[in-house]
Amino acid sequence: MNNAKAKSVSYSKTTITELMIPSYANFGGKIHGGILLSLIDKVAYACASKHAANYCVTVSVDNVDFLEPVEVGDLVHLKASVVYVGNSSLVVGINVIAENVKEGTLKKTNNSYVTMVAKGDDDKPTKVPELILESQEEVRLFLEAIKRKELKKDYRQKVKEVTNMLAESTPKALLEGERCKLDLKKFSL
Ligand SMILES: CC(C)(COP(=O)(O)OP(=O)(O)OC[C@H]1O[C@@H](n2cnc3c(N)ncnc32)[C@H](O)[C@@H]1OP(=O)(O)O)[C@@H](O)C(=O)NCCC(=O)NCCS
Repeated sequence: MNNAKAKSVSYSKTTITELMIPSYANFGGKIHGGILLSLIDKVAYACASKHAANYCVTVSVDNVDFLEPVEVGDLVHLKASVVYVGNSSLVVGINVIAENVKEGTLKKTNNSYVTMVAKGDDDKPTKVPELILESQEEVRLFLEAIKRKELKKDYRQKVKEVTNMLAESTPKALLEGERCKLDLKKFSL
């Protein structure tokens, strides 16, 4: 059932805590980035679907910068909240914090934004409830999300222009100073 009544940010706030076990580690002994991405997706889904009261799908993940390595034995806390709603889309902000329980230290490893879209029983995007903003911080995050959406639109347009430009001609001069070698026997520019 989709409850169309507006909901507060706190209604769907979600935290997942996961212990970093040895099978999550890479050969360097640190936690695989993919494990954290999977947890980010999971907590974003839980948070978005609670707000939407519907099944949601992941459309886009922004700013996945791993700021610090996460160690085996750490407790990873993923704190998610809805920061923006459109018609059928929601943006979930996620803070990822790694806790070393022995030393009692916390370190911030990620701050990501996941865009999810709510789907109805017909598998089509469906309207989500409005978001009730109850603090300056929530207003700030909502406005930031609008700005990010506009910037992403500009970015996509610019990438399209560059791709089209490079499809028409491949100026060799652009490679000057780059760490690559042209094997001119194989092709010509
Ligand atoms: C997400 C999806 C439903 C969008 O379908 P669509 O036909 O483009 O639908 P619409 O154009 O009506 O867009 C629906 C919403 O998605 C948003 N959206 C679509 N693509 C987006 C993108 N790349 N980034 C952010 N938002 C996006 C639109 O802005 C719109 O938001 P609004 O309703 O709040 O205005 C469709 O692309 C899909 O099903 N993708 C696969 C998702 C999935 O399976 N994810 C799991 C990964 S395997």
